[in-house]
Amino acid sequence: MSIPHTVIVGGSSGVGLATARTLLYADHDVTIAGRSRERLDAASRELGGRARAIVLDAADPASAKSAFAALGAFDHLVLALGSAKGVGPFASVDLAEVRRGFEEKVFAHFATAQAALPFLAEDGSMTFVAAVTAHAAMPAGIGAANAAVAALAPILAAELKPLRVNGVSPGVIDTPWWDVLADEVKESAFADYAAMAPVGRIGRADDIAETIAFLIANSFMTGAVIVCDGGLRLGPGVGQ
Ligand SMILES: NC(=O)c1ccc[n+]([C@@H]2O[C@H](COP(=O)([O-])OP(=O)(O)OC[C@H]3O[C@@H](n4cnc5c(N)ncnc54)[C@H](OP(=O)(O)O)[C@@H]3O)[C@@H](O)[C@H]2O)c1
Repeated sequence: MSIPHTVIVGGSSGVGLATARTLLYADHDVTIAGRSRERLDAASRELGGRARAIVLDAADPASAKSAFAALGAFDHLVLALGSAKGVGPFASVDLAEVRRGFEEKVFAHFATAQAALPFLAEDGSMTFVAAVTAHAAMPAGIGAANAAVAALAPILAAELKPLRVNGVSPGVIDTPWWDVLADEVKESAFADYAAMAPVGRIGRADDIAETIAFLIANSFMTGAVIVCDGGLRLGPGVGQ
């Protein structure tokens, strides 16, 4: 059996980097992609030099097309890049930020999946990383963008068969995504989210990496979006 080759866009940090580590352990060939050569080099060192690294801007279709053309055929695509834009109450959220959030997440996932298609094995897979905001009473701007990404999984699973297409919607995960917040603000937010989640903790990047690895490995999974959030979407139970 040949060794599967998986490309992880957003593989230089957080969920994508943990997925690279998990898949290398499962004997995949792994290519990580991101915009910053510096971050890719640091991630490659962390992975012990066992992954290839390519510069690619998912929001720029020309960049994605030429990166995939240079790379050639591969088996599985993971889209683990996102945006933090579009947070705030519906009545006052800045529409320009909501639009940028859609460009940085929905358009970037859509365009990169399209650019990868000619190079993906017919019996391979795509996995989109959306977010729990798509499935819960959470900020509307970022929630609508993640809902659009999650919607792609069943639509593309039907259209692109036998390619399998799935998604995962993480809850709050301790990754550099949160580094925009000052340390003490971040720690207090994490403590609040941990208290809200039935499992009593926030997530680790490995929690999501294991879910992505499962979706790639299980040939009966397609058109599914797994919410991996420690139950955060459920809110407090009745009577609490
Ligand atoms: N962390 C959470 O709590 C959480 C919760 C729910 C959903 N998510 C979702 O999980 C996914 C991964 O997030 P994370 O927490 O792992 O974030 P992260 O640690 O900030 O990593 C983001 C990765 O995406 C890359 N990236 C960003 N924009 C890109 C672009 N236009 N083209 C190519 N690469 C790009 C980044 O590298 P460069 O900047 O160098 O390009 C980096 O490798 C995102 O879709 C996020 O929305 C995260």
